[in-house]
Amino acid sequence: MSPVGQIPHGTLDYAEVAALGVRPDDLLVFSSNINPYGPPPAVVKALRAALTPAIVARYPDRLSLELRARLAAYHRVPETAILVGNGTADLLWLIGLLHLRQRRIAVLTPTFGEYENVAALMAAPVTRVDYPGWQRRAEGIFTAGENAVANCAQALAAAQPEVVFVCNPNNPTGQVLHPDELEQLYAAAPAALWIVDEAYSEFMALPVSSIPWIERGNWLVLRSMTKDFALGGLRLGYVAGAPALIGPLQQAQSPWNTNSLAQLAGIACMDQLNWRKTTLAQLRADCAALRRELQAAGFTPRPTTVNYFLMPVADPARLRAVLLQRRIVIRDCTSFGLPSYVRIATQQPDANRRLVAALVEYGSGEL
Ligand SMILES: Cc1ncc(COP(=O)(O)O)c(C=O)c1O
Repeated sequence: MSPVGQIPHGTLDYAEVAALGVRPDDLLVFSSNINPYGPPPAVVKALRAALTPAIVARYPDRLSLELRARLAAYHRVPETAILVGNGTADLLWLIGLLHLRQRRIAVLTPTFGEYENVAALMAAPVTRVDYPGWQRRAEGIFTAGENAVANCAQALAAAQPEVVFVCNPNNPTGQVLHPDELEQLYAAAPAALWIVDEAYSEFMALPVSSIPWIERGNWLVLRSMTKDFALGGLRLGYVAGAPALIGPLQQAQSPWNTNSLAQLAGIACMDQLNWRKTTLAQLRADCAALRRELQAAGFTPRPTTVNYFLMPVADPARLRAVLLQRRIVIRDCTSFGLPSYVRIATQQPDANRRLVAALVEYGSGEL
């Protein structure tokens, strides 16, 4: 079990930025999986119009009632099946508080590091189960392989977990488990509480949603609004689940957890679903173009269903450091247990061309 604490993420490290002597806006950030076309201009406009002394001074709605109603209508679930929070990561810690303490946890890996981090906080023993398509070479070190869903199901059944974490689509691999595959895995541990993180679902051409499965009563789905609507600085996410699971989570949530401007932005985002559809379609085209350019330059980006992808390189830490000197940030995937990969999140075309030029200059031979 890894020690609990602040773990590496692709988001900007502000101390590192300060040490470089630059401002965050001076950097091209390929390390954080956020819609580069956002936030929606209409949302920024709504925030500007709402930014009065009164909204700053007044406490927010503790239950985010208006936003919750919009999200419930969108997903066709009762309002009591949704809990809004200060980002998905915050909700993950809340779920940890109520459901992870000293429980047997299974995590499909390689994946987002916070699941194991929260488990460590709650003294919960973790069994790592290899994500379909990935195999362990050594403890915590993965390689792309032929691991079938059936193998994964078998390993899950053997772990006898009380709680299962699945990131779908997965971070950092960009792959997805389709409903029949997820069902096969569920059958291996039907008594466990399933926590399915769909933070990146909307980036897919055909988004996956297991929200209808909350009816099972042991199925929680995490969704983030910081990625597709680009609200990383405001923080906004939600969890969907059976009201019997959501009620106690709501009771345990810290009061006034989601600030008024984040709630307002979330409500305004729900009027911008077309904006999301259009910009994410554009981003998928940008991603395909970037991958073609990288391939033409001799690199081998791995397939993906979303806006980010893995790319094998010989020395990710060195490449990251070299690119940082050129004001470009990429994600070294060593902390995911992928020490020969970087993760690249597609940006707008100009930025993508600058990345390819910098990589070509560095030399594909050296990578
Ligand atoms: C898979 C996954 N889930 C959740 C989060 C956190 O999302 P939020 O910004 O909503 O806290 C991230 C952020 O990197 C992520 O990659």
